Order: sequence, then C-alpha cells, then structure tokens
Amino acid sequence: MVTVIAHRGARSLAPENTLAAARKAHRLGADLWETDVAVTADDQLVLMHDDAMIRTTNVSDIFPERVPAAFSTYSLAEIRSLDAGSWFEHDDPFGQVAAGAVGRQELARYAGEKVPTLREAFELTLVLDWFLNLELKAQPLPKNDFDLVDAVLNLADEVSIGPDHLLFSSARFSWLKTLKQRRPDFEVQAILGLFPEDPMDFTDPFFDTFNPRYTRLSVDQLKRQVDLGLKLNPFTVNDDKMIASLIEVGVAGLITDFPQRVPK
Ligand code: G3P
Ligand code: MG
Repeated sequence: MVTVIAHRGARSLAPENTLAAARKAHRLGADLWETDVAVTADDQLVLMHDDAMIRTTNVSDIFPERVPAAFSTYSLAEIRSLDAGSWFEHDDPFGQVAAGAVGRQELARYAGEKVPTLREAFELTLVLDWFLNLELKAQPLPKNDFDLVDAVLNLADEVSIGPDHLLFSSARFSWLKTLKQRRPDFEVQAILGLFPEDPMDFTDPFFDTFNPRYTRLSVDQLKRQVDLGLKLNPFTVNDDKMIASLIEVGVAGLITDFPQRVPK
C-alpha cells in the first residue's frame, strides 16, 4: 500500500501549512502530513513555505511598508497577528473553491487561521496519533546560520514527540546526518531536486529513502531506483495518471497536494 503524504497539509482544499490543512488531510485519510519549518526573527519555530509571506497571509495589509521581507525578519508576535486563511477563498492554488470542492462552512472557518507554531504542529500530530514529515529548509537571512537541527530536536523532546509520530526530510543532507548522529531513532529522508541545479543523485549510502522531484526523471528512471531497493516518496504528484504510474512501479509513498486522489 502506498503511503499518502499530504503536502503542506491538504493543500488543494485548505490553506497550506495551517492546522486546518493538517486536520483536513487527516480527515481525508492521509498517512502523514508534510510541512516546512521557518525561524522567526526572535528564534521561534513556525510553519511557512515561501520566504515572503505575501501569497499565504495578509502581510501586505498589516505590514505594507515591510513586504516583501522574509518571515525571518518578523517576530513571532508579528507573524501570529497575520491571517493565514482568508486568502484561500480567492486564490486557492488549484481552483478547487471554484470547482465546488470546498464547502461554504469550511471556507468560512479558514478565515482568521493563524500561522501555526511548530509546537502546535507537534501537539496536533500527537493528539491525532498521526505522523509528520518535517522538512528542514535552508533559512533566509538573517537566520541562514541558525542551528535548526538543535532547535527542532529540543522542541520535539519538550513536547515528547518521537520517531513513531515524526520524521525529518531535507535537501541539506548535512543536517540530516547531524540529526541522525544525535538521534539515530528518527527516520530521515533526502530530498532530491528541490532546486533546479540540484543533482538527482541516489547514491549516498547514508540514505535508503529519497524524496525526488518526479518531473526531473522518467518513470523508468524512478523504477530503476525502486528495483535497486530504495524507498522513494516522489513530490509533488497531483495528476491521477502519474499517481497510478508511480504506484505501479512501487514507490513507497507519494507527496501530494491531493491526498483525496490517491486510491487507498
Ligand atoms: O518534501 C518535498 C517538498 O515539500 C519539497 O518542496 O518546496 O514544496 O517544500 P516544497
Ligand atoms: Mg516542503
């Protein structure tokens, strides 16, 4: 059975990287949710994908003189004052609101959704007895040297979330290796092709799970890696036919904005 990994939560049906998107993905039966951790100006951990928060919050209304500065220049209190849900009604990324796939009541509930803290994400995952794939992304200035591994492990210990509810993924392999040295019990997954110049190299023996950008390779090339014994979780697979093809070649999981499209 393929593992269904809801990319930024159920991103097609709810505002990405919010607790509402996570809950939606859980209701849809996803096996995990994937999210991106971001460091605030005051060294707090929140969930955010884009460096600038323009697309997924009302930062342009609240701090017009500061956009498009990165999230790393805003304090936690400033980020928590933003509305990370209302944008979805008018700008949902896959036209699912116009298609009638999102209920009116659900849409109304998204308004006012906050940017979650990582603590809240951990706590929700535990409450639901669910599983989180936490992506450790390179942080924008001035937090580019922030010790993200240390911070996420300390928080995980504080909240008592362990390897049965949490794994880590990253395109920065050195972070994953440091993390594994400190905590060998946690699973780590190497992301390939996050940036166009990144090599699609599956040969680092440290990893047995790779999360490749599937568009960089043919289905046959992916199959070759599966046949060599690697576990693959390609991203971000939304197309029905591609979902079926990748299940057919035996990928371990699918990172998708449409967990509702993956047959269970
Ligand atoms: O985990 C894979 C995927 O999340 C990487 O892409 O940019 O959506 O975080 P991105
Ligand atoms: Mg991600």
